[in-house]
Amino acid sequence: MSSAQLYDTIGATYTVTRRTEPRIAAQVWAALGDARTVLNVGAGTGSYEPNDREVTAVEPSAVMRAQRPAGTAPCVAAVAESLPFEDQSFDAAMAFATVHHWRDPIAGLLEMRRVARRVVVFTHDTSETGWLRRFWLTRDYVPELADLLIGRPSLTKLAGAIAARLEPVLIPWDCADGFFEAYWRRPEAYLDENVRRGVSVWTRVGPGAEQRAVGSLRDDLVSGRWAERNRDLVDLEAADLGLRLLIA
Ligand SMILES: C[S@@+](CC[C@H](N)C(=O)[O-])C[C@H]1O[C@@H](n2cnc3c(N)ncnc32)[C@H](O)[C@@H]1O
Repeated sequence: MSSAQLYDTIGATYTVTRRTEPRIAAQVWAALGDARTVLNVGAGTGSYEPNDREVTAVEPSAVMRAQRPAGTAPCVAAVAESLPFEDQSFDAAMAFATVHHWRDPIAGLLEMRRVARRVVVFTHDTSETGWLRRFWLTRDYVPELADLLIGRPSLTKLAGAIAARLEPVLIPWDCADGFFEAYWRRPEAYLDENVRRGVSVWTRVGPGAEQRAVGSLRDDLVSGRWAERNRDLVDLEAADLGLRLLIA
């Protein structure tokens, strides 16, 4: 199944939990600098699109395009790997939480580089130390995630492809956007089906792994094992779980 097809299947309830987190948006918009025209690739329902600039969106899934609120930026049905725009047509191109879905992430980044003078990409460090072991949910409950990363380019390789620098993105404890890592200090949230349906990871690891992970998290919350293992998190206001901006 292509990623666009995936979102045509799982995307209908996306906006129940997924929306712009203002503190992360401020970091993305600062990275866009003084860009007036901005291309948003893998735009989904329009989260993180700055409303004080001229935005054009690209989104392959019809289900996601249909949920864009009235009045948001015009949206073109296309994929990152083949952007239907002339060279250097935009001041900046941004991509938020989408690169890991692209069939060929490097090709997509090079396309962004071709059509825009500045590139800003929000993604995650998929290395063992950067992500898998850093976040208790992947480390202790969903080890299957490692299998999904086989053959995917590393963060270093992605950054190298467009000569990007990396900027850490801290996740506030009360993050408004329900992406996978968002509830790192609110573990009960992962027991909620609505929360899980807003994140493709659960569909991709499959119902067996999902049910096992949720069951074992529920047990650990009841027994106090989660709290014991993660007592260093309770006083943190924000956490570095390997989320990064690539800025080129
Ligand atoms: C997790 S959603 C993120 C949407 C939005 N950027 C946000 O932050 O809410 C990932 C999006 O990437 C889109 N996508 C999948 N494959 C793509 C590709 N090859 N090129 C561009 N977008 C793609 C999906 O259809 C989906 O809308």
